Order: sequence, then C-alpha cells, then structure tokens
Amino acid sequence: MQVLRKAFKQPLSDVVTEFVACTHADAHLVKADLTGSIAHAQMLAEEGLISPSQGEAIEGGLNTLLAKAEAGKFELKVEYEDVHMNVEKQLEELIGSDALRLHTARSRNDQVALDLRLYTVGAIDALVDGLNFLQASILKSAKKHADIVMPGYTHLQRAQPVLYAHAILAFYEMFARDIERFNDCKKRTMVSPLGAGAQAGSGLSINPQSVAKKLGFPQVFSNSIDAVSDRDFAAEFLMACSLTAVHISQMAETLVIWSSSEFGFVELADNVTTTSSLMPHKKNPDPLEIARAKSGAVIGDLVNLLVTLKALPLGYNRDLQETKPPVINSAGIVGEALKVMACCVDAVTVNVEKTLAAASDPALMTTDLVEYLVNKGVPFRKAHETIAEIVADASENGVPLPDMEIEKYQGYAAEFGNDLYELFNPKLSVTAKKSHGSTGVAEVKKKL
Ligand code: ARG
Repeated sequence: MQVLRKAFKQPLSDVVTEFVACTHADAHLVKADLTGSIAHAQMLAEEGLISPSQGEAIEGGLNTLLAKAEAGKFELKVEYEDVHMNVEKQLEELIGSDALRLHTARSRNDQVALDLRLYTVGAIDALVDGLNFLQASILKSAKKHADIVMPGYTHLQRAQPVLYAHAILAFYEMFARDIERFNDCKKRTMVSPLGAGAQAGSGLSINPQSVAKKLGFPQVFSNSIDAVSDRDFAAEFLMACSLTAVHISQMAETLVIWSSSEFGFVELADNVTTTSSLMPHKKNPDPLEIARAKSGAVIGDLVNLLVTLKALPLGYNRDLQETKPPVINSAGIVGEALKVMACCVDAVTVNVEKTLAAASDPALMTTDLVEYLVNKGVPFRKAHETIAEIVADASENGVPLPDMEIEKYQGYAAEFGNDLYELFNPKLSVTAKKSHGSTGVAEVKKKL
C-alpha cells in the first residue's frame, strides 16, 4: 500500500504492492464494506464520538459510494491495497476531512471479518434460493412422470422396480438437507466482529451491540482476539457448498447414465445438449458433465481454506486475506451449477417404454417372491434361500421365471400357488410397497 507510510523511509516496491493487494477479491465486497461502514458511522455519532453533522456527512458520502457501487462504477486501485482503504480514499475525495473520522475505533482486521460475513450471508441467501429453484424443477419432473416405473439400482445392478418420481425425489431430499446446512451456517455467520479493533477492542466508548443490530446480526463477538481471526463460518460455508456440489455431481452423473443409449431411460431436450465437431449424430450432455466436474473446484476451495487456517498463530494474520477468494469462487460456481441443473431437469423427458421394459425384467421381482413366501409363513432366511435356488434352476435350464411351471415352484416350497405369476408385474411391485418412505404408489403420492 502506498498510503499510511509516514513511518517508512522507502515506498513499497511495485512487485510487493501488487502481491499484497486484494482488490480483485475485494471488488465483490464493496457493498458489504459500505454497509458495515454506514452502521459504524451511525454508532460513532450516537455515542458522541463524532458530531451529528460529521456523521451525516460521512453517511451521505458512503451512500453516494453505495449508489456508485450498485451502478458498477466503483473502481478499486491496487495502490490502496484493499476495499477498506479504497473506500476511505474515495470518501475523502467526496466529503473532505470528515472522512478522516470514519475509522475511529476500528481496524481493517475487524472490518474485513465483517465484510466477509456480510458477503457470506448474501451468498447463503442466494444459494438457498437456487436450491429452492432446483427443488421446484425436480418436483415438477416427478409430477409430470408420476406413474412411470423404472428399475432401481444397487451397485449399479438392477435391484427392484421403483417409480421414476421416487428416484428423482431422492435428490430433492439431498437438496433439502443442503438448505438446512446453509441456514444453520448462517446463524454462526451472523455474528458481528466490529468493535474488536485490531485484536484488543477499544478504549473509546463504542457500542458493538448497536452496530450488530443495525446490520441485522442477532449476535456480537464475545472475544476480540477470536473475532478478528475466526473464519470458521467460511469453512462451514465451503463445507455446505462442497456437499451441495457433490449432490449436484451425483445427480448429473445419474442423468448422464440414464440418458445414455445403453439405458435410454430419459431424453434431454436440445437446449441442454451439444454436438461433436466430428460425429454429426452426437447429442452430448455437456452441461451435466461440467456440473459433475465443478465439484472438484469447490472441494478444492474448502481444502484451500482449511490449509490456510491450519497452524495460524493466535490473532489476525495476513494469511486471512487469502480466505476470501475460495468463498467468493465457490459461491459463484455453486450458484451457476444450481441454475444449470434446474434447466437440465426441466429438459428431461422420461421414456415410458424403455423404463417399463427394463423394470419388467423378472429378476427384479425376486424380492416380491420372497415376501410372497414370508406372507405364507415361511421364515425370511429360508424364503430367500428357496428363491435363490429357483433363480439358479431357471438360469441353468434357460427358462425365464414367469415361464417355470407351478409344479416346479411347488417342488421348492409347497406354499406356492398360481397367484405367484401375478407378481411378475413391475407396476404391481411398486403398488405393493406400503412402508414409510418407500417407492409405494401411495407413499410417493403423499410425498408429492
Ligand atoms: N486486506 C486485509 C485483508 O483482507 C485487511 C486487513 C489488513 N490488516 C493489516 N493489518 N494489514 O485481510
């Protein structure tokens, strides 16, 4: 920084000036910084630390700068190092010497902590909106394809028939937990650090509680040293971002698989597919693949932040400046990915024939056969074994399960009757499921 250097004999070298500046990240914090400064100035006036007219001049100037920032016209100069000094300098240009009183009882250490908290609260609200938006698309898709039956998978091997709505709503639940996580993190983010000063607090009669109240923060810091160094909220935020990114990635991968020719369960509309520069027939799910990949950058941001914090000595350290880019980067990536995922879900059409054909594989109904025997009083483990033997028999003799004669079934268990053949129907299989949270038609309807 080329200002505040009266105690120095040399200017800061150019290469160092560039290196220590954070104007790039701070371009995202201008509104937060001005909002925090307005609250601080109001408190200073209330407490008599500046006169009412000085308070008015400062607040008026800060509001002018806020309008400038909102119009995208607030420029940050590298030689002033960060948003705080840039604001102070522009305020001085605007209102003159009254600006010199704004930094009373404040340090950039508590100021930057507040700015990042304000930014994070805004990011949380935007991401929760994005998650709600994606959930709405999922719900719409589930309702649109409410009756479609498809195979459910374990180990990516066909397991049992499920409703498409049930499968897609699994992602709805993941995103619901993500919303809870963000809102929980928000509670610990809305703690105002302003008034902690550089790390020891202030000898002036400031009122940190009043600043917190003006900012809508329910809590104020309780230890000034902790207040300037605490970035736990940022770590929690990035953890929540990472988990959301992982859920996005899992959903993207699932849709990529379902849309492949091998599965053919869903088709993606042309507005979300791209083609090959060589193969004219290709319709590729690029947005889903990129959403799948972006989770790497978000997880990287979390690791970046944790490694920056690890082993920092107590108090403010300049390393903390490096906690801003990962937060800003991930907030942007996850916000965009949520929008793209909603767009892709809206573009899904489920193929009724292909899903039904795959779900009609008789192997998917073996659990229903087991439950059939259990209902007739056969112990579960015995019933499981019996059906396993029947499956092996059918496969050795090349006879599909629905074509095996009743005598053959009865040779394995006397409890079998002709009604067993009704079980080879995937729609019946999902209708029969009645337990809580299952794929049962009634359960899914309740959920929808
Ligand atoms: N630019 C710094 C940051 O982003 C602000 C605090 C600087 N404090 C200091 N004493 N150099 O963290």
